[in-house]
Amino acid sequence: MFIPLNSTNYLGELMYNVLAIDDDINFLKNLTSVLRYNNYRTQTANNPFEVINLLQKERFHCVLLDVQMPGMDGLSLLKEIKERFPAIPVIMVSGRSTLAVAVKAIKQGAFDFLEKGADLDRLLITLNNAIEFYNWQKERDVLINELIGQYRMVGQSSAMKKIFNQIDFVAPTDSTVLITGETGVGKELIARAVQLKSKRSTKPFIRINCAAIPETLIESTFFGHKKGSFTGAVKDQPGKFELADGGTIFLDEIGELPVQAQAKLLNVLQDGEIETIGATESKKVDVRVIAATNKDLNALMAEKKFREDLFHRLNVFHIHVPPLRERIKDIPLLVDHYLKFYAEEYNKKILGISPEGLNILLEYDWPGNVRTLKNILSRAVMFARSNIISSEEISLALEMDDHKTWYSGKSMSLSEFLEFQEKHFLRQTLLMCNGNKQMAAQKLNVDRATLWRKLKKYRLDFES
Ligand SMILES: Nc1ncnc2c1ncn2[C@@H]1O[C@H](COP(=O)(O)OP(=O)(O)OP(=O)(O)O)[C@@H](O)[C@H]1O
Ligand SMILES: [Mg+2]
Repeated sequence: MFIPLNSTNYLGELMYNVLAIDDDINFLKNLTSVLRYNNYRTQTANNPFEVINLLQKERFHCVLLDVQMPGMDGLSLLKEIKERFPAIPVIMVSGRSTLAVAVKAIKQGAFDFLEKGADLDRLLITLNNAIEFYNWQKERDVLINELIGQYRMVGQSSAMKKIFNQIDFVAPTDSTVLITGETGVGKELIARAVQLKSKRSTKPFIRINCAAIPETLIESTFFGHKKGSFTGAVKDQPGKFELADGGTIFLDEIGELPVQAQAKLLNVLQDGEIETIGATESKKVDVRVIAATNKDLNALMAEKKFREDLFHRLNVFHIHVPPLRERIKDIPLLVDHYLKFYAEEYNKKILGISPEGLNILLEYDWPGNVRTLKNILSRAVMFARSNIISSEEISLALEMDDHKTWYSGKSMSLSEFLEFQEKHFLRQTLLMCNGNKQMAAQKLNVDRATLWRKLKKYRLDFES
């Protein structure tokens, strides 16, 4: 299909392309000159086949369509245009209109309905609004596509294939979704995918991190408050549920929500109504809920830390994301995806990873899942001295991640600490010996078999 760029007039200004369809040749003539005078490019047509043909060949910003024409029913043509070119706004124009026809046209997707006798300003304003709407829709689609790119999920394991199917299945429904899985497996990414593939994709997506709100502020954060309803409530503040009206709310770390707040949340899920603090009446909201947690909700329920009724309300559709170590088939794809991503970010030419390097990644147990894999690859690309990432660069990046865990103050047993130190020492010695294991064994005063075993244990088996 050939789509010419927007036309410009002799001053180089952008001219919008309008298609006018009418059987009244005089009307079309007048219209064309008025529109040209107002800087629109107008094409005319008077038979339906020509209309579809023109719309296929050229880009139009708006269609002006007569309702009654001999041998052609404007409303049927409207239907066809909307089916085949849903983005193009169609303004219906009629000589003898009735309200019933106008209503029908709007119901069928017409942007507006005008009478032929209506003054010119009205026509121009409507046309201008329709084109603004068209441009806004295009911009929105570009942004949504960018978001889809940003939130792109990759995977080829059977677990990920199942998840992709689940997303496609549940997204178009309004069902509540519960996403579970360890930290860094991609729960938020899945929530975004559900929203972007739903009919709410252009509506707000509001994330609430339930773990990050102080208990005393939860109700106000969720449902808002009225001015003066408590000390410090200096103005009306809408809650997140109100802000998400028409869209999606993502309750992240739902397992951290205190039991009292769970009861309030349950009420909203049951009635679809929120009670703003200090308001006299409750308010209806239309919000789709997606919740995620890395906690074992069954265990929390057994300890009475999570309400069973709330669990059942949330668990209408459950997506469980297995940890990365249980779906290592995804690793090569993720590596490829993120090597490209970071190579572009750091402006480096990276062709891939050595088989030994990939092996280290396949054998690692990924406690931080995809998030850690991303960090490792980001560092490996940063260190890369050639366009193939070596196993040594991967080992180095992995080791830094261990350090991060250590410095992050994570509690460690004595044996974990000793192993951590041993691994670090072995790696330093190997680096000093340029990877020569024989020499390293001598320096460490251990036999080769012992060194080999330890290198394997700590995945320090880099190229020598
Ligand atoms: N299948 C995937 N494809 C591409 N990127 C992924 C995939 N899964 C996760 N990621 C990336 O890994 C990072 C962590 O994902 P995300 O934040 O969705 O995890 P999470 O499960 O919400 O973690 P947490 O429980 O810690 O909040 C993100 O940067 C995300 O883009
Ligand atoms: Mg998350």
